Amino acid sequence: MGWSPFALVVIFAALGSAQGTGTVQNPVRIGAWNLQRFGPTKMGKPEVVAKIVQVMRKYDIIVILEVVDADEQVPGLLLNALNSGLTNTYNLTISRRLGRTSYQEQYAFYWKPSVVRVNFTYQYNDTVLDKFQFEPFIVVFEGKFDRNLPRFGFIPLHAKPSDAVPEIDALVDVYNTFKQETGIEDVIIAGDFNAGCTYVGGNDYPKIRLFTDPRFTWLISDHADTTTEATTCPYDRIVAAGNKMLSATYDNTAQPYYFDEDLGITNAALVDDISDHYPVEVLLKGSSTIDSSKVHPGTSISVAISVTPADLSNFSFSSTTNFMVMSWVSPNAAAAVSSIEAFSQSNPNILSAEGLAVLLYKYNNGGLTDSTLHGEYYQQGNHTVTVHCNSDHNLCTTTWTVFTPIN
Ligand SMILES: *[C@@H]1O[C@H](CO)[C@@H](O)[C@H](O)[C@H]1NC(C)=O
Ligand SMILES: *[C@@H]1O[C@H](CO)[C@@H](O)[C@H](O)[C@H]1NC(C)=O
Ligand SMILES: *[C@@H]1O[C@H](CO)[C@@H](O)[C@H](O)[C@H]1NC(C)=O
Ligand SMILES: *[C@@H]1O[C@H](CO)[C@@H](O)[C@H](O)[C@H]1NC(C)=O
Ligand SMILES: *[C@@H]1O[C@H](CO)[C@@H](O)[C@H](O)[C@H]1NC(C)=O
Repeated sequence: MGWSPFALVVIFAALGSAQGTGTVQNPVRIGAWNLQRFGPTKMGKPEVVAKIVQVMRKYDIIVILEVVDADEQVPGLLLNALNSGLTNTYNLTISRRLGRTSYQEQYAFYWKPSVVRVNFTYQYNDTVLDKFQFEPFIVVFEGKFDRNLPRFGFIPLHAKPSDAVPEIDALVDVYNTFKQETGIEDVIIAGDFNAGCTYVGGNDYPKIRLFTDPRFTWLISDHADTTTEATTCPYDRIVAAGNKMLSATYDNTAQPYYFDEDLGITNAALVDDISDHYPVEVLLKGSSTIDSSKVHPGTSISVAISVTPADLSNFSFSSTTNFMVMSWVSPNAAAAVSSIEAFSQSNPNILSAEGLAVLLYKYNNGGLTDSTLHGEYYQQGNHTVTVHCNSDHNLCTTTWTVFTPIN
């Protein structure tokens, strides 16, 4: 079958709206938090535990560092507090007690089984090199995040302050060994690296392979403040490795979570009792069964739907090419939404209900927001919807672009 270039401009009036029925998983929020000597004393303070629980419930996966209970009761008690009154409960995956002396700590991962599962766990064997005070305990998660990322390793670290430079450097050995033994290259490395102030300075970075090796992307900058105290120190960090991991993280979502400001905790003593650290966090794209992407940074969003030649039988093509394009312009976002809904309703094979839901989800969550499209210029922008079908690839892509007079 031969097709010809064919451009059709259609102006849709508001034809009523069809609600998309597809489902798109919310972003998966992951965090790491040093809970500062988290043991029976802290667990015995209900007002402190209540705030800790409130913070932890923001996350789909959060690893707690500096768990110090020799009797190993406190992690389970925290799980009970976390799950109290919840229908969508958490589960707990915890390392053994780690340390070179009788002072030992555990890494405790709290995660939502409704969003992720543990594929397996992996304790890094540090007995020969003995680089770490608390050698990383890795949890491999699979679940409802970016469909192109089948699973990823979550590598936590609580670095010994005086060894922060060699320990952060040795994370590269952990990564290489883990990757070699498991075949998994997509990881998030997160935790209290003590990566700042008196422990890690500017001159140290050239000595830290995790920093110099381009496979690793640091998502939390040197300017971040991850301490709840008067100091400004970027101790806690998140580093990503693996192309699928990087493309699964949302840009600009890695940050400390200033829980005191967010939860309105003005009592400094209560903040001190909770922790001297803020959690650090990053968002992963939620799962969807179809591919979607931002195609023109900040100004376009699109979805691609697989089609058959029969699905295209109502459209006109001529004898020389394998694609057809149609597009229309709407004066504002509301009109664009109505027109896309109407298009989906009358062409469900070209833009399915799920495709519509994905597009609207992206729009409603800032997919067309671009910091260069401010105020009045954004308001003046035209919204253009383009449907492009390619018979070679049996694919129809619907793209929604907002144009601005200042582009
Ligand atoms: C929670 O963890 C326990 C112990 O690892 C396991 O037996 C249980 O199946 C898990 N529950 C869910 C819902 O994943
Ligand atoms: C872990 O994930 C791999 C790859 O998806 C899968 O083949 C394997 O069965 C999983 N193992 C467990 C215990 O879930
Ligand atoms: C760690 O490695 C050492 C040296 O290869 C070995 O003797 C020890 O059994 C390993 N420990 C574990 C838990 O695998
Ligand atoms: C083509 O249009 C007819 C009439 O509107 C409609 O009944 C039919 O479902 C359409 N076919 C496809 C593949 O969209
Ligand atoms: C918006 O579209 C109208 C009609 O096509 C055009 O006259 C106008 O210049 C466009 N504005 C921008 C900012 O592209």
